[in-house]
Amino acid sequence: METLCITGGQPLHGTLAVQGSKNAVLPLLAAAAAVPGRSVLLGCPSIRDLRVSCALLEGLGLSCRAAGDTLFLDAAAPPRTDPDPALAGQLRSSVLLLGALLGRCGQAEIPLPGGCVLGARPLDLHLKGLEALGVEVRREDCLLRCRGRPRAGTVRLPYPSVGATENLMLAALGASGPVRICGAAREPEIRDLAAFLNACGARVTGAGSACVRITPAPLHGAVHRVLPDRMEAATWLCAVAAAGGTLRLTGLCPAQLEPVLRTLEQAGCELTREPAALSLRAGALQAPEPVVTGPYPAFPTDAQAPMMAALLRAQGRTLFSETVFEDRFRHVPALRAMGAQIELSGRRAVVHGTAKLHGAEMAATDLRGAAAMVCAALGAEGESRITQAWHLDRGYADFAARLRALGAEVRVEA
Ligand code: UD1
Repeated sequence: METLCITGGQPLHGTLAVQGSKNAVLPLLAAAAAVPGRSVLLGCPSIRDLRVSCALLEGLGLSCRAAGDTLFLDAAAPPRTDPDPALAGQLRSSVLLLGALLGRCGQAEIPLPGGCVLGARPLDLHLKGLEALGVEVRREDCLLRCRGRPRAGTVRLPYPSVGATENLMLAALGASGPVRICGAAREPEIRDLAAFLNACGARVTGAGSACVRITPAPLHGAVHRVLPDRMEAATWLCAVAAAGGTLRLTGLCPAQLEPVLRTLEQAGCELTREPAALSLRAGALQAPEPVVTGPYPAFPTDAQAPMMAALLRAQGRTLFSETVFEDRFRHVPALRAMGAQIELSGRRAVVHGTAKLHGAEMAATDLRGAAAMVCAALGAEGESRITQAWHLDRGYADFAARLRALGAEVRVEA
């Protein structure tokens, strides 16, 4: 998808089933390389990052076969330990092969990862954590060369990095004894990874808390259903909040979205929570309490940009404080081009609600920034053109078709 043309200014109505989580399935794919055997992942999203991950795994000698939203993985034979740099460079999550391959093979040669440009995104926590477990880490230009089976012990993370927690969990599968990760990330995607690993025979306890313990055990393949995508759900909620209308989402865990739901309610949206579904009715919006991003269970950084887009026309002043990534307001110039009033200062942004937005031409900057541009365009009068819309394909399946299902006027230019 190269360019997305959206004619906004009309309310949206409809029901969507939430896709499987991008940020859950990518670590699961890396985990599959650590598990000798055949695994089946159910409810996989049809997104570009998943296809690139499968190509990476195939390059290591694994077999990946998709049938609908089911992925059949075969990692019975020992994998190669040197992922393709061109593919690895397209994904942040390719760095998780470091832990997976170390855990299984005791060595890995990992090219530096890619992913959205949101700031420096260093790997120091991943690498210091592995070194604390006795792994030898050497940096060679664009390559990380790691050797040695992790030993038993405790790693203390000074910040609850999602990727570092996942990498250490995967490396610990092949450790000489139990590994404790203290200061671990508590995101639902960590719990999903632990559930898959436990189904594969591992003994992982404490996932979802700040202390995760992994006791190595013989592993085998397993069948696992991928967690629903809370960020996709947040995007659709913000789209309808921006455009007005009603939305029902099915197949999600509303509790995992609580900070996003609270902000939408404070802004004047009516929400109905069910155990695995959610309904939203959007009306005139007012500025909610400040939106401060942080590690789970705080407001998710991935929902910050779509939420800002949803609140551009909310009456009053909304403060956004971004504490996770240092460069996560790259969508702001595009929103301003649509008439949004946004003051920016470092990691803080203040939105002054404006009555009307108008269509504009803009270039997508990153996955969630592109989603924010779409949400704003749906609430703007006239046509908007979003170039470089391929960013959306990385994390959203059938994006334009799903918008159309809600009644949006959307055209894709190749
Ligand atoms: C994951 C998600 C991403 C989400 C983020 C935070 C995936 C594929 N991506 O990214 O969508 O926005 O969690 O919820 O799951 N940091 C360091 N050193 C490190 C590692 C991280 O300083 O070694 C910093 C990062 O630069 C960033 C912060 O810690 O400022 C959070 O990063 P982290 O939690 O690791 O996010 P990712 O795993 O990259």
